[in-house]
Amino acid sequence: MIKPHGADELKPLFVYDTEQHHALNEEAEGLPSLLVNSAAAANAVMLGAGYFTPLSGYMNLADALSVAENLQTTDGLFWPVPIVNLTNDVSGIGDAKRIALRDPNVEGNPVLAIMDIDAIEDVSEAQIDTMAENIFGTLDPEHPGVATFKGLGNKLLSGSIQVLNFSYFQTDFPDTFRTAVEIRNEMVERGWNKVVAFQTRNPMHRAHEELCRMAMDDLGTDGVLIHMLLGKLKPGDIPADVRDNCIRKMVELYFPANTVMITGYGFDMLYAGPREAVLHAIFRQNCGCTHFIVGRDHAGVGDYYGAFDAQTIFDDKVPEGALDIEIYRADHTAYSKKLNKVVMMKDAPDHDKEDFVLLSGTKVREMLGQGIAPPPEFSRPECAKILMDYYQSLDK
Ligand code: ADX
Repeated sequence: MIKPHGADELKPLFVYDTEQHHALNEEAEGLPSLLVNSAAAANAVMLGAGYFTPLSGYMNLADALSVAENLQTTDGLFWPVPIVNLTNDVSGIGDAKRIALRDPNVEGNPVLAIMDIDAIEDVSEAQIDTMAENIFGTLDPEHPGVATFKGLGNKLLSGSIQVLNFSYFQTDFPDTFRTAVEIRNEMVERGWNKVVAFQTRNPMHRAHEELCRMAMDDLGTDGVLIHMLLGKLKPGDIPADVRDNCIRKMVELYFPANTVMITGYGFDMLYAGPREAVLHAIFRQNCGCTHFIVGRDHAGVGDYYGAFDAQTIFDDKVPEGALDIEIYRADHTAYSKKLNKVVMMKDAPDHDKEDFVLLSGTKVREMLGQGIAPPPEFSRPECAKILMDYYQSLDK
């Protein structure tokens, strides 16, 4: 099986030993605690689940800046996005070296992890901007990722963590949330060796569905890992449970049995386009996938990134040999009225724009809200029905 990133074995920071887990939970109740923000909590969940192997906790300022500017830690580990615990107020923890991190996303703010603090550093506005600009390619406050990042705080806590639970992800999405450990184990059970991963934060329309099929056929994989984001999104994006239902329906009806694993991970969307695509590739390698689909405007938002910037970054910024996972690059994909099937546009050079069924996200949302199903060339009717029910429930 493909090796994890930068390590021979996965390094999940979740405490699996029952006795130790129990003891740490008890210890946590007596420790000074910090209510972390959602971004830091999501980082803890990803670290706990093994997705961020080989990291052992939150980065310090030197590493965070080095990662933002040069895509590597000060030790030379290739990494595209700072994994940080930024906060505004550390007055509650005094000079404690060991603290409990409390979960902002679960009622009662239970302890999510225990952290051994190496350092608490002040981050200047200029350093926050340097990081944001490198991660997101812009400092526009209208960019949802920039707005979130710039609001996280300017005290940076670094150090290793021991993770005690998977926040709301395991309880809210028991059938879908999986750790990297579980995904690797399931692949072994299924006897899958060559696996392509598909990242998504959307209900899967025909283009998404066909991309998975094309990648599986072109690469000759044992299966596809549909790996959906279960964390926070910007307003207007579709909630995870609705997307999950659409995806399950589509797989049930349109994919042969035992060719798809439907899974999800607990992370908030960054909307960092190219940088996020590289992070996505790393944590799919950690799941045991050999290939990763990157299509048009991957992890994008608005017009901040070029349609294929998330592909070219793998040529421009990822050093040879830094990753073992391979990228499956997808051109803009849509239904061709001439060929009566979904194709990549590069494979239909004689087509005009009018030869494709193209609908903007805004148009699709408008239709669904009015109870009008998009054409079956765009969306499977069974998925459209789930989406129409959701949008119409919003108006009530
Ligand atoms: S994303 O933020 O998770 O990237 P989305 O769920 O819409 O958004 O996309 C999932 C994957 O499918 C990404 O790799 C994206 O580039 C690709 N993709 C989505 N729609 C198309 C399309 N019409 N043509 C090509 N690639 C696409």
